[in-house]
Amino acid sequence: MIGPFSIVVLTGAGISAESGVDTFRDTDGIWSKVNIEDVATPEGYVRDPERVHAFYNDRRRGLPGVVPNAAHFALAKLEREFQGEFLLVTQNIDDLHERAGSAKLIHMHGELVKAFCDRCGHKLEWRADLSTGDACPACHGHGRLRPDVVWFGEMPYQMDRIYDALAKCDLFVSIGTSGNVYPAAGFVAEARAAGARTVELNLEPSEGANLFHHAVHGPATKIVPDFVESVLRG
Ligand code: APR
Repeated sequence: MIGPFSIVVLTGAGISAESGVDTFRDTDGIWSKVNIEDVATPEGYVRDPERVHAFYNDRRRGLPGVVPNAAHFALAKLEREFQGEFLLVTQNIDDLHERAGSAKLIHMHGELVKAFCDRCGHKLEWRADLSTGDACPACHGHGRLRPDVVWFGEMPYQMDRIYDALAKCDLFVSIGTSGNVYPAAGFVAEARAAGARTVELNLEPSEGANLFHHAVHGPATKIVPDFVESVLRG
């Protein structure tokens, strides 16, 4: 079998679970404790910006206390050693992929460690708490800095680049995502339409499990390194 020449990997919260980062829809996941409408929609932000800031401040404060796991490191190794084209698209807003060494990376739902001004558009790194009291360093507008996180109803980032990569890939791997949220949940169909082999690596079958040619179920720290070795061995 001729090896893949172009790989696209999609990750979700499940790849960070064993690092101690909460997932969204597992039992006692984030959405069992907080309403999406209140903290992950533009309307929720307009209604109560400080409540939204508190939600992301809490998650941003947790980042220094977690570290990448074997699955993050395995994907960074695949990027380094794979001879063809590689793109990692993550739905996650944590910085564990970068800290594991991934570089060919798109955060389609934004990043917890970035903020942007919804008055002038200025984007900057922001690792501290954020509040309506903070001023934009570019336009000096007060209360206009928001987490650089894509909320429900907003357009994810770099979709053209992602669809372009999916149209050309011959291996698509989905890791640690429940397949509940579009457009990410539709990527497997795009890859199949392009003739790619599609693989799901997840703790359990996702919503879109039947759309994948292959599946391996188990904890990411076990099944992702094994899968990466199998791809690199060719
Ligand atoms: N190893 C592998 N997979 C795991 C592990 C693990 N240790 N733990 C959990 N999983 C799987 C779960 O079985 C589930 O299918 O990870 C998936 C996590 O699903 P969600 O919590 O729904 O997270 P995700 O799919 O990333 O959510 C997508 O929804 O709320 C929005 O913007 C948010 O990016 C997020 C998007």
